[in-house]
Amino acid sequence: MYVQNASASDRKPVTVPSLRTMKAEGRPIVMLTAYDASFAWQLEVAGVDVALVGDSLGMVVQGHRSTLPVTLDHMVYHTSMVARGLNATLLVADLPFMSDRDVPHILDAGARLFGEGGAAMVKVEGAAPHILDGIAALTARAMPVCAHLGLTPQSVHKFGGFRIQGREQEAAERLVKEAQAVEAAGAAIVVLEGLPTTLGKRITESVSIPTIGIGAGPHCDGQVLVLHDMLGITPGKRPKFSKDFLAGRDSVAAAIAAYVKDVREGVFPAAEHGFN
Ligand code: KIV
Repeated sequence: MYVQNASASDRKPVTVPSLRTMKAEGRPIVMLTAYDASFAWQLEVAGVDVALVGDSLGMVVQGHRSTLPVTLDHMVYHTSMVARGLNATLLVADLPFMSDRDVPHILDAGARLFGEGGAAMVKVEGAAPHILDGIAALTARAMPVCAHLGLTPQSVHKFGGFRIQGREQEAAERLVKEAQAVEAAGAAIVVLEGLPTTLGKRITESVSIPTIGIGAGPHCDGQVLVLHDMLGITPGKRPKFSKDFLAGRDSVAAAIAAYVKDVREGVFPAAEHGFN
């Protein structure tokens, strides 16, 4: 049975302003996905700064081949479970496929994830004009936004697979401009996924909001991984940018604590987890 003992976490709450302070002070931000209350509590106790209810749940929990079958109802359900497992950790929830089709839908999805789900921030993929308008509309209504650029999984069919982005000069320039555009629209933080290490560094230096990398090298202001990947329980081959933190350890708690320590100390990601 799941019994939360809130007093077991007496950490100071992580807030949107405190993430900016962490970037300014050069303190790496630790982010990890969670999909239910029990794992959320493991993140809480380990001192993870940001819990992400990613639509990656479509793949690692529901068993689909992409994130596209995930619905807004699924996201609200999982976000509300994760919220009950957290105390000080900031909760971010994904807007799933096509819930971001236009600004009214983006606002409705945000309202549900904040209101019913208990999120403190929502994440949207890409920098298309309607997404930039959506970031501005959410932000204007006090719903902070995490942008997501690079290998955005909802665009898997456009990319022809889960492929590293920004390898060519033109694409790299576009991604730098997109990062500046999501910041200008009001995004509070930005996830950079599947980019060459040099581009992750360049974007991090080009914006004042914190960048959170996943397969974007060690120079981002923080790191995020999919929980099931870093526990080594995702079926199939582990992504190159991830690491099995449970290998050689005897508990989920120890694996998550090791991830937190390695990100804070700049040990993870190592060169072998990056792309050139
Ligand atoms: O859905 C997810 O888990 C994500 C992370 C990979 C950043 O978007």
